Amino acid sequence: MSTQPEIRVAPVAAGSRLLSLGAYRPQRVVPNAEIVTLIESSDEWIQQRSGIRERRWAGPEETVLAMATAASQQALAGAGLTGADIDLVLLTTMTSFSTTPTAANLLQAAIGSRGGALEMNSACAGFPYALAVADQAVRTGAARHVLVVGVERMTDLLDMADRGTMFLFGDGAGAVVVGAADSPGIGPVAWGSWGEQAEALDAAPLLADVVRGEAEGPTVLRMKGQSVFRWAVTEMPKVGLEALEAAGVKAEQLAAFVPHQANTRIIDAMVKGMGLPEHVAVADDVRWTGNTSAASIPLAMERVLREGRAQPGDLALLVGFGGGLSHAAQVVALPALAS
Ligand SMILES: CC(C)(COP(=O)(O)OP(=O)(O)OC[C@H]1O[C@@H](n2cnc3c(N)ncnc32)[C@H](O)[C@@H]1OP(=O)(O)O)[C@@H](O)C(=O)NCCC(=O)NCCS
Repeated sequence: MSTQPEIRVAPVAAGSRLLSLGAYRPQRVVPNAEIVTLIESSDEWIQQRSGIRERRWAGPEETVLAMATAASQQALAGAGLTGADIDLVLLTTMTSFSTTPTAANLLQAAIGSRGGALEMNSACAGFPYALAVADQAVRTGAARHVLVVGVERMTDLLDMADRGTMFLFGDGAGAVVVGAADSPGIGPVAWGSWGEQAEALDAAPLLADVVRGEAEGPTVLRMKGQSVFRWAVTEMPKVGLEALEAAGVKAEQLAAFVPHQANTRIIDAMVKGMGLPEHVAVADDVRWTGNTSAASIPLAMERVLREGRAQPGDLALLVGFGGGLSHAAQVVALPALAS
């Protein structure tokens, strides 16, 4: 009788943490004053309903790859690493539109890594999903350093005539390097999906149908704004509390709350629903950057740190949510900003 050899696995690390952070914001600033020349609306209505004053829209040169590369190079420099140190590239986006090669493959080559490359899509919830996978890859020894990038060119998906969506979204990229740590700097993930509500936020017609000639493009984002709003304000406070509980961290111990930057009314409702104390810095990057989907959490983290509202090492609660519908959340120790 042959004995089955035991499969060897790497020793498990005590924890992982965010070593550094990089951000890329497109050059072109689009204020509400410009939006109201494109749709029937007003600066006052947009600010009152969403908190957004301006957003960044990418130019032709600011591709998903270009923005992801710029943010990644900053994050690598901040961690004192080069691409050769990256064992896994995780790129999360809903706007790369390339089935193969993925933007993750192209980014791996652009930064000079020989590591694995994986593109992930969980729409606006993508960043905390990718962070959870990175944490597990580092802790199980599958990778020494993981580059996690959230990047989006939402303008490629917008119907510029749809006044229910076009003013909300923007473009950009944020990147972090995750590496091993003596104590955990990334808490357990609270993730979930609500696929039965998929049609509240989708891209139609499906690209697959356009490719098969069964529908005519372009594929654009469609949203039932009130359904998404209701779901977010009802369910996301519970998700935030679940992530705190899983990490054994109390709301009073948080320095910052960095939710997906969909709009300030949703953010305010989450703060209230979770009963966050006043000292917690609440990220509000959406006012200047709009909703950048998978890029919004790292971009919002960057602003909170740059403005000195929280310091590297402080605890922050991240909550991503959106298309799917889906969500993911965790507590992290904030990284240092690349200078
Ligand atoms: C999109 C959103 C701001 C719209 O606000 P709302 O209060 O739900 O607006 P409604 O769609 O009910 O429309 C209310 C009124 O404003 C009007 N309106 C809609 N868009 C408008 C615009 N851009 N400018 C001015 N008026 C507008 C509507 O026509 C409607 O007018 P009526 O009452 O005369 O019919 C809001 O639903 C929202 O924030 N949803 C969540 C969206 C989100 O963040 N999604 C991303 C999650 S990842």
